[in-house]
Amino acid sequence: MPQWLKDAVFYEIYPQSFKDTNGDGIGDFQGIIEKLDYIRDLGCNALWINPCFDSPFKDAGYDVRDYKKAASRYGTNEDLCRLFAEAHKKGIRVLLDLVPGHTSEEHPWFTMSQKAETNEYSNRYIWTSHCFEGAKGFPYIGGESERSGVYVLNFFKCQPALNYGFLNPKEPWQLPVDHPDCIATREAMKDVMRYWLDQGCDGFRVDMAASLVKNDDEEKTGTCAIWSNVREMLDSDYPEAAMVSEWGNPQLALKAGFHMDFFLNGRGNGYSTLMRDYENQEDHSFFKKDGHGDITRFLEDYLPRYEASRDNGYFCLLTCNHDTLRPRYNLDETELKLAFAFIFTMPGVPYLYYGDEIGMRYLELPTKEGGYFRTGSRTPMQWNHEKNAGFSEAEKDSLYLPVDEADDAPTVAAQESDPGSLLHTVKSLLALRHASADLQADAAFEPVYAEKGAAAFVYRRGALTVAVNPSGGTVTVPSVGQKSVIYSIGNGRWEEDRIILEPQSFLVLE
Ligand code: GLC
Ligand code: CA
Repeated sequence: MPQWLKDAVFYEIYPQSFKDTNGDGIGDFQGIIEKLDYIRDLGCNALWINPCFDSPFKDAGYDVRDYKKAASRYGTNEDLCRLFAEAHKKGIRVLLDLVPGHTSEEHPWFTMSQKAETNEYSNRYIWTSHCFEGAKGFPYIGGESERSGVYVLNFFKCQPALNYGFLNPKEPWQLPVDHPDCIATREAMKDVMRYWLDQGCDGFRVDMAASLVKNDDEEKTGTCAIWSNVREMLDSDYPEAAMVSEWGNPQLALKAGFHMDFFLNGRGNGYSTLMRDYENQEDHSFFKKDGHGDITRFLEDYLPRYEASRDNGYFCLLTCNHDTLRPRYNLDETELKLAFAFIFTMPGVPYLYYGDEIGMRYLELPTKEGGYFRTGSRTPMQWNHEKNAGFSEAEKDSLYLPVDEADDAPTVAAQESDPGSLLHTVKSLLALRHASADLQADAAFEPVYAEKGAAAFVYRRGALTVAVNPSGGTVTVPSVGQKSVIYSIGNGRWEEDRIILEPQSFLVLE
């Protein structure tokens, strides 16, 4: 287990939209390099960069055409390696986004796989035996290749599924997981990982990590065996490299070998009750001031997974990601401060999505590169009030996506000069986390006040007590031997035997 994860705070960058340095309207590696000081000063010491490899960009780069080549719109492989080196000089690690479940339909492996003559890549993807034979419950495409057979999709039409085999094959075209061609797919993916790790990359965020073996059982036996094999490679050759899975099932993911797994947003799940419980008109999110939310709905889902996984790695909370509506969609600045205060003082490794630190909005936009509703969370970073919010020198209509043009659109520059800003709160929270071992990834966590229907939540982190009251009313909770307040948002205080939390307040007590 890489020790650096204990005190890691990740910053997710959607490279298209972070910083453009050559005026073509799209972000680039050089832009990330130029903003490394900003990221470090914010308190983040690790990056997750969305896929930045050669791609036709039908799914924003999650359709890879060449795993070993940087997309030219962001720069060259040398520029990406320079980014690793410059980041390391500032104490920042860099995780790339590995997409092991599928490639682009333009990947040369797929072109070879479509050929009528059998070749090395014929079984790299999942094909049935005849052009009129469907794929037994899997989404598939037929009639597009020389080869007679249909191929299985993993996500969009542009993303044919790589072939890691079937757990209990039932059809002649379903290969067993130990078939040499399925092992070859796994080895090809390990080769890609080694390629980047050897050049300074610090690990991977793994896309759709549960999707590899088809017809897998509930325990994901087939897929887990692949990740355990990958972990063996890391443990022996790259012990400092870290892997985080897009899975949402830490019991399986961490046991299989991932160091971290995300608590992903899902309709009605525990994570969604924190900031995104607005499916049914009314907003009952815990961090919504008048939402009458309730932390027990989060804990019911979170605690069993946290308990089951905590000796194997980290179950991680995110402010947002490139697939989710930004939290500013429904929360105002004060609500965001409290939500982030919670996320940054919980166990596991926290992830901050670029722009959330200033409360960037979700914009209603037409789809771009397969984004659909997600596009509104992928707009250019707002650095200042200059042209295109300081994102790019390009003309407005050649920007990757439009910049938020509202008069009160938040910017880094404006918030840097305002001590009461969300940006300052994020910085002070992350500084506190780095300074207190008790607030870091593996320190003990225990809820001490979490009642059904109650507005406040109090929890222990090691020797510290954290208390949050997102509601509009004052809440008094019994004190458990604290002596002083070491951090606060809003008005809260401590007396002999009680903690008094005024509306919308947050306290860390010693
Ligand atoms: C993951 C990514 C998402 C992508 C999909 C297919 O969910 O986060 O952006 O569209 O996988 O690769
Ligand atoms: Ca550019």
